[in-house]
Amino acid sequence: MALITQASIQAVLDACDMLEIVAPYTTLKKSGTSHMGRCPFHGEKTPSFSVDPVRKLYYCFGCGEGGNAFRFIQEKEGLQFVDAVRSLADKYGVSLDYESSSPEEEKRRVGKERIYSLLDQAAGYYSRVLQESSSAAAARDYLSRRGFKEEVISDFRLGFSPEKGKALLKAATAKGYAIEELVRAGLLSDRRGGGKMDRFRGRLMFPFTDHRGRVLGFGARVLDESKPKYMNSPETELYHKSRLVFGLGNARRAITRENRVFVVEGYTDVLALNQAGMPAAVASMGTALTEQQMREISRFTKNVFLAFDADWAGRSAMLRALEPARRLGLNVRVIEMPTGNDPADLVFATGGLEQFGELAASAPGLLKYQVQTALSLSDLDSTEGKVQAFKKLGPILSQAPNSIERDEQIRIVAGRLRLSPENMAYLMQSAPSTENGDAGGSTKRRVLSQGEITERSFLSLCLAREEEAGRYLQLMTEAHFTTDLNRSAFNWVKNRLASVKETGSVIKETALPAGGELSDLISELFIRAQTEKYSPAALPELFMRLCESEIYRRIEKLKSRLGSGEEVDLKELYRLEDRRRGILRKIQSGTFETV
Ligand code: CTP
Ligand code: MN
Repeated sequence: MALITQASIQAVLDACDMLEIVAPYTTLKKSGTSHMGRCPFHGEKTPSFSVDPVRKLYYCFGCGEGGNAFRFIQEKEGLQFVDAVRSLADKYGVSLDYESSSPEEEKRRVGKERIYSLLDQAAGYYSRVLQESSSAAAARDYLSRRGFKEEVISDFRLGFSPEKGKALLKAATAKGYAIEELVRAGLLSDRRGGGKMDRFRGRLMFPFTDHRGRVLGFGARVLDESKPKYMNSPETELYHKSRLVFGLGNARRAITRENRVFVVEGYTDVLALNQAGMPAAVASMGTALTEQQMREISRFTKNVFLAFDADWAGRSAMLRALEPARRLGLNVRVIEMPTGNDPADLVFATGGLEQFGELAASAPGLLKYQVQTALSLSDLDSTEGKVQAFKKLGPILSQAPNSIERDEQIRIVAGRLRLSPENMAYLMQSAPSTENGDAGGSTKRRVLSQGEITERSFLSLCLAREEEAGRYLQLMTEAHFTTDLNRSAFNWVKNRLASVKETGSVIKETALPAGGELSDLISELFIRAQTEKYSPAALPELFMRLCESEIYRRIEKLKSRLGSGEEVDLKELYRLEDRRRGILRKIQSGTFETV
């Protein structure tokens, strides 16, 4: 990128009025050659912030902040140096010169500047149409019916695109812009049968601006219920949907002042919040909030309030924001709209603004919100529901950075799943990561046979009765289990109980398997162990059922060999049949020997 010349930077400084620049942030009183006021960088009661309007410097005797006009703008508006220079150059009408690198580069820069100014003039054109043209009467009507006032309409430079197919095209070419430039700016579309025409016709125009307020493209809404409701600029060299945060240019100052931002879904929500007196509002432009958008926002504040629509799409978008928000170190809180409302509906309703404020004040953090949602979507009265809830929340909690919030959520989840916090923490060690955990949950799901279910019930019962269970496990082998997974679980439980016997301690000795099916199953067994009610006879009964099944399988195998004419030890077959009958009798009569 081309560098701004030193001479230009000096010219901006020369043009600056330091008192004017500081004025929005604090009230200054003249004292000698300097002006004093309360410091806008730290909270204080007695003024220790001084501005020297001649040398154009500021300094705070309290907190040590100090510098020139650029520095001030950088700090207060969260801008990079270059952007601060440009912002003040705009404000004071200084045109910037750039170090001339190569002629081609210079040409590219100038060409791009022309696209910027074309878009800016297009916004001006649409806005004039909205204000003045008789063809825009319906649009003016529409806005006033929806309660939008002059001020917000002009702050956001709303406009109206004429119905006529070439109105903008003609106006722009008359000003010397080429068709190719209009195409580059995303303002034209192909005309059926060849040629170009205005892309936006008969729509309410919402200019998209960057954080400096430069127009990059447009969102365009129909005035009625026809579809598509919104038509937006195509991707261009300046407008990238995934990066644009609607309203950031307008909201920037309020965001740094309040050190927080409200992120809503729609353009109209941003307008409504502004009008209601909450200017620190921007829109994600539809549900998903991308990481790039978050990065853009995070330059101005780390405190992000999500206030998406109260529908499934809105909720799921807020949940998806967790990961990128964590990566960017954002402190995200969730404002839950009352059902059927978007923020615009809410703040326009009587008492709505207060309600919005209350919702913001009590907004849960993203982790808490995620936990609440998962718990409320699971049927926690059933073991199945508890297992599902754990599978969802285990990975989330285990990946959350250590914090008071996390500990609190672990306690809450443990309580609702009726797990002790220790066991909960223990189970979380092996929780799979969210990405493959999710997929695993749905794809691996299959119907278990009655036999597999009995095997698992037995194993979870072993975990529930660790003192008694060891004796039964000693008498069993892998042959009592019918799948590889259940056999692995059997070995794991057996090992664990053996170590319990030796060390007398339970929790920390056996390592959980790291991830995968086995760790899922072990988690499930633990949860079942703690939540299901078993009669005292359950352990011997299930044990005997598994023994019976194991003998039955041996018998079947022998029989199949008989059928194929192989030599078979018939005595062994009778012995097995006998034992099996004995076990079945006991199971039926309900007399379970304990071993
Ligand atoms: N959106 C879009 N294209 C669509 C629908 C929606 O780009 N076809 C984006 C817009 O940024 C819109 C946001 O998603 O502002 C939210 O959509 P929606 O709630 O439908 O629109 P609102 O802005 O709330 O519009 P209105 O209040 O006028 O219905
Ligand atoms: Mn909406």
